[in-house]
Amino acid sequence: MLSVANLTKRHPGSARPVFSALGFSIAAGEIVALAGESGVGKSTLLNCIAGLELANTGAILVGPQAQDIVRLDEAARAALRATTIGFVFQAFHVLPTLTVAQNVAVPLLLGGVAAGEHAARIEALLGRVGLPGFGPRWPGTLSGGELQRVAIARALVHRPSLILADEPTGNLDPRTADEILVLLLERVREEGASALIVTHSQHVAQNCDRILTLTPDGLQ
Ligand SMILES: Nc1ncnc2c1ncn2[C@@H]1O[C@H](COP(=O)(O)OP(=O)(O)OP(=O)(O)O)[C@@H](O)[C@H]1O
Ligand SMILES: [Mg+2]
Repeated sequence: MLSVANLTKRHPGSARPVFSALGFSIAAGEIVALAGESGVGKSTLLNCIAGLELANTGAILVGPQAQDIVRLDEAARAALRATTIGFVFQAFHVLPTLTVAQNVAVPLLLGGVAAGEHAARIEALLGRVGLPGFGPRWPGTLSGGELQRVAIARALVHRPSLILADEPTGNLDPRTADEILVLLLERVREEGASALIVTHSQHVAQNCDRILTLTPDGLQ
């Protein structure tokens, strides 16, 4: 479902790469934890896999068709994200001027799900993340933990085969952050999707099938 080979990323203007020659794969239905110290490049790696940042060299084969996101143009990357990838960002990125339901609907607007199915799917998913009836609410009236649940619902609503999740930080206490990632794991297993989940939590990592640790010298 995901195969990364010989991946190198250097940010413009920075002397040395964040990581170089990384390689690993994630099988269909496999959930992998990504650990590593702050600043080592975990978010950068997730952004490269989602095609939100461009890797300098290497290949990233994504989805059932094993498309190399490094080699696709921007439109094709966006299409692959819309159909195949669900992303939970470190800082939520729930849009404040859209209701909860409209936020969850965003991936549906880009993908190929029939409009008549949207409302029912959104309400069902809000129920699955513990937010039944929250659809009409405004993000500004939700707690940090509730916002992260909205972000999880949004990441799953288009039934992606690969979920990428960056550990929620911000205002979440470690226990709430843990609970929310465990909820995400349950939903990913329910959908039979694959996932790469950044976490500092032993508890969350133990609930994954495998743990990869990113260090300045590469993956362990
Ligand atoms: N756009 C950018 N331009 C230059 N440097 C960047 C950019 N984005 C990230 N970096 C640098 O790349 C390194 C890796 O950052 P990244 O955000 O991937 O770390 P991380 O492992 O996710 O850390 P954390 O656990 O704190 O979230 C850091 O040194 C960071 O300062
Ligand atoms: Mg990060």
